[in-house]
Amino acid sequence: MRKIFIAGNWKMNLTKSEAIALASGLAAKSSSFGNVEVGVIPAFVHIDAVSAAVKGSPISVGAQDVYFEKNGAFTGEISTDMLVDLGVQYALVGHSERRHILKESDELLNKKVLALLARKELGALLCVGELLEERKAEKTFAVIEHQLKTGLAGVDASHVDRLVIAYEPVWAIGTGLTASPQQAQDAHAFTRATLAKMFNPDFANKIQIQYGGSVKASNAGELLSQPDVDGALVGGASLKVDEFVGIITAGAATKK
Ligand code: 13P
Repeated sequence: MRKIFIAGNWKMNLTKSEAIALASGLAAKSSSFGNVEVGVIPAFVHIDAVSAAVKGSPISVGAQDVYFEKNGAFTGEISTDMLVDLGVQYALVGHSERRHILKESDELLNKKVLALLARKELGALLCVGELLEERKAEKTFAVIEHQLKTGLAGVDASHVDRLVIAYEPVWAIGTGLTASPQQAQDAHAFTRATLAKMFNPDFANKIQIQYGGSVKASNAGELLSQPDVDGALVGGASLKVDEFVGIITAGAATKK
């Protein structure tokens, strides 16, 4: 049985004191998380302080990005060694904002995934998802398949426990629009079937696939009760303790 994994992507938000307050507020409520795995993904500059604030709680800490080179003249970038040193457990790769605003290519994202998986301490959370015009043109599945195949090229199936996929339809991110539970389930089932072909059925059965895009406490239960939705990657609603805890408790109530 796959566990539910709910992570809050804080994006480029919060001052240090706000990040600490949010992390501490969540840690204080962690007894209500049930069987749900919970993570927070602050900006790089807040990782240390947030890690200290959640210490002793079951909340994991991730990074929003990583660079694939080990070290050297890459001004502004952050390496896997630096993440490991901070105790970070995983990093996002290919978030739609990095694909579409920062113009990161599939090839670059693949290098980041491989760099993360090369470190046994780290996991990779690969985001995939279609633009609105791609959905309208009925290209959703083709886009997901392309992003999975390019992003996961060269990945060893034995790393399934350190890999998570987030399906985030771009049109649903920060817009208040949410994929319907059926739209999410269809995309997740397609993702799992694609991974079964790319790797093997056991890999596909084990991997956690999160949904992201305007998840709130009020819609989380319906989304998370879909058979192939194994969690959520939450943006805006993860910036408020009560709303994020509401999403987690809705996940716990689905008792997957
Ligand atoms: P919102 O929950 O704000 O739509 O953001 C989703 C997202 O991009 C999470 O990575």
